Amino acid sequence: MVDLAVSRLGQSFANPVLLSSGPAGFGLELAPLFRSKPLGGLTTKTVTPSPRQGNPPPRLVDAPAGALNSIGLANPGLDEFLAQVLPELRELPTVRLISFAASDVQGVEAMAGVLGEAAGVDVLELNLSCPNVEGRPPSWDSASTRELVRAATRATCTPLLAKLSPDVTDVVPVAAAALEEGAAGLTLVNTVRGLRIQRDTGRPTLARMWGGLSGAAILPIALARVFEARRAFPEVPIVGVGGVTDLGSLLEMAMAGADLVGIGLAVMCDPELPWRLCVELKQWLCRRRISRYSQLVGCAHRGGVDVCRTC
Ligand SMILES: Cc1cc2nc3c(=O)[nH]c(=O)nc-3n(C[C@H](O)[C@H](O)[C@H](O)COP(=O)(O)O)c2cc1C
Repeated sequence: MVDLAVSRLGQSFANPVLLSSGPAGFGLELAPLFRSKPLGGLTTKTVTPSPRQGNPPPRLVDAPAGALNSIGLANPGLDEFLAQVLPELRELPTVRLISFAASDVQGVEAMAGVLGEAAGVDVLELNLSCPNVEGRPPSWDSASTRELVRAATRATCTPLLAKLSPDVTDVVPVAAAALEEGAAGLTLVNTVRGLRIQRDTGRPTLARMWGGLSGAAILPIALARVFEARRAFPEVPIVGVGGVTDLGSLLEMAMAGADLVGIGLAVMCDPELPWRLCVELKQWLCRRRISRYSQLVGCAHRGGVDVCRTC
């Protein structure tokens, strides 16, 4: 028997696979899949204090081995989320991770307070890393990260993940700032800032010019950030996100140190992928006679999977 369960962030995840924030919206279209087979968790689209239209089109364009988006946090806002979306999410048999963001300290504190009290919110994920809104992503520097995480943890005891940007030279000081201010764990990473240019006009393809790159193209970048964070913080819960599109990339993410693995862009092409990956992961562990998924987590830091199997 193989045990895929993960106990982290005060929750029992049936398996380590999550939907990452955004590509699946609020996940409600996938409700029949959640009801038929277990999935570790569902991270919602980021919710903001007020409704947002997002950026003007075009806001999604393909890229080699991925896509560039500048959606710009389009969402119905906190009130609508609480009234219309959360009641439906509460019915799903999975761990609910609610992603949120606000442009200032007061907004973050207010949202964390309200969401942390709401029934059905299991974990909060503070999005400090969207590259597609006004200003710099807060997690480009430790001071802004510290300030916003402090505001959130002041307002709630619900476990809080800090979602960080990969676009930094060293993610460790930023992660340390979040953890020192009470974040229960880290989500690594958001999209990588990128650009595409229309070859016939010479103009940037996306209306807002810059976008965030996701998909297989960013796997090595995400792996590096997860590995660096795991090495610096051996005990901290880490959700690894970025470029996971198949069993091989999921295994690499776990081996780098991810307790939980988020699937983003790949769900837009293949909505059943996360559920299939759970089956494939179980079979892979079984063939290797590894009894628990947790034995795999971070094994790249311990001499590899064969060492891990015999210990
Ligand atoms: C269309 C789209 C929308 C996204 N929206 C959000 C969002 O609202 N909040 C957030 O934290 N991340 C958002 N992301 C980022 C993903 O959660 C994820 O961090 C990133 O895409 C890397 O993972 P991937 O390579 O598996 O897609 C979005 C990504 C895409 C492609």
